[in-house]
Amino acid sequence: VSTGAHVNVRDFEKAARQKVDPIHADYFNGGAGDEITLRANEKGFENLKLLPRVLRGSAKRELDVTLFGSRAAMPVLLSPTAFHRLVHDEGERATARAAARAGAIMIVSMAATVAVEDIVAAAREAVPDGPDLWFQLYVQPDLEITETLVARAATAGTKAIVVTVDSPVLGSSDRNNRNDFHDLPPGLACENLRGLRGGSGHVRQIQMSAEISWTHIDWLRGITSLPIILKGVLHPEDARIAVAHGVDGLLLSNHGGRQLDTVPATIDLLPEFVATVGSRIPIMLDGGVRRGTDIVKALALGASAVGVGRPIVWGLAADGESGVLRVLDLLRDELDQTLALCGATSIRDLTADLVRR
Ligand SMILES: Cc1cc2nc3c(=O)[nH]c(=O)nc-3n(C[C@H](O)[C@H](O)[C@H](O)COP(=O)(O)O)c2cc1C
Repeated sequence: VSTGAHVNVRDFEKAARQKVDPIHADYFNGGAGDEITLRANEKGFENLKLLPRVLRGSAKRELDVTLFGSRAAMPVLLSPTAFHRLVHDEGERATARAAARAGAIMIVSMAATVAVEDIVAAAREAVPDGPDLWFQLYVQPDLEITETLVARAATAGTKAIVVTVDSPVLGSSDRNNRNDFHDLPPGLACENLRGLRGGSGHVRQIQMSAEISWTHIDWLRGITSLPIILKGVLHPEDARIAVAHGVDGLLLSNHGGRQLDTVPATIDLLPEFVATVGSRIPIMLDGGVRRGTDIVKALALGASAVGVGRPIVWGLAADGESGVLRVLDLLRDELDQTLALCGATSIRDLTADLVRR
């Protein structure tokens, strides 16, 4: 990592604030209700301590991971975040190029402000044999529209469907309500929705529906051969049900504290989740990951990979593609250093005994 003004991920939060309209910064940084969960996610990591092993490392550490056939240079996913063009003109294109250069899997948001085909193309242009991209889906009550979206994402070349299940209704943010921020400004649209049923890509075209159920997951299983990952399952009982429904993976997430407030930190839920699901399907986690030590804690407690949301947006806002790349490079270098300091030769060496409360 070269030296510079931004020496850690949180530096990018400050840098982003200086570049972005305060109303948009509130949208990106804020959470639901009293933001108790938003704070808990980071606090959860802080409350865990690492207990390293010594005299058993190696000069080079293995950081690579393969998930559902998608190979990545590091176990850090770009969690799906909406509206990248709000903070940078190139939007998701810049994000995709940075992810490709870092060797990280990008989960494209259904609410992206660049169409999924163009996002995949940007990634491929940057690195022709770079990592796969995955597509995040809110199942729409109109199944025809949902099926069209899934087909579109598959044709574009994304390699897994990440179904967000924590949004039967939209979470309510006091910050957005105070700012009266509920729509994209003119000129920006949810490009994956444009043209569907003649829509213009207006945000309201994305419907949150409380009627979505396990039946829909079964239906989805029937219309696509792509791996299906559920994002936002929190109760261990639901994790058990997900396995029974043949879901391929789980992304343990509380939506970065943006949906139901007062939900526990994801890192605090992880051990029970892992105990329930065991090794039957991979479990990934997002929420509050800001440091290499956070990544090591999550992997040690049984996660196969972690996702980052806001840090990517901060990097993009601060410095476009290079900002996102720098955020990912920082996380990778910190992860590598933490592994070395823990006496681990590979991310696969990490065990729960390295983490103490
Ligand atoms: C600005 C913003 C937009 C988001 N948009 C989406 C989205 O479109 N779909 C989704 O499944 N999750 C969305 N999320 C949640 C993220 O995927 C992720 O769960 C969360 O940001 C992780 O927490 P972190 O920001 O602390 O890393 C969004 C989060 C943020 C901050």
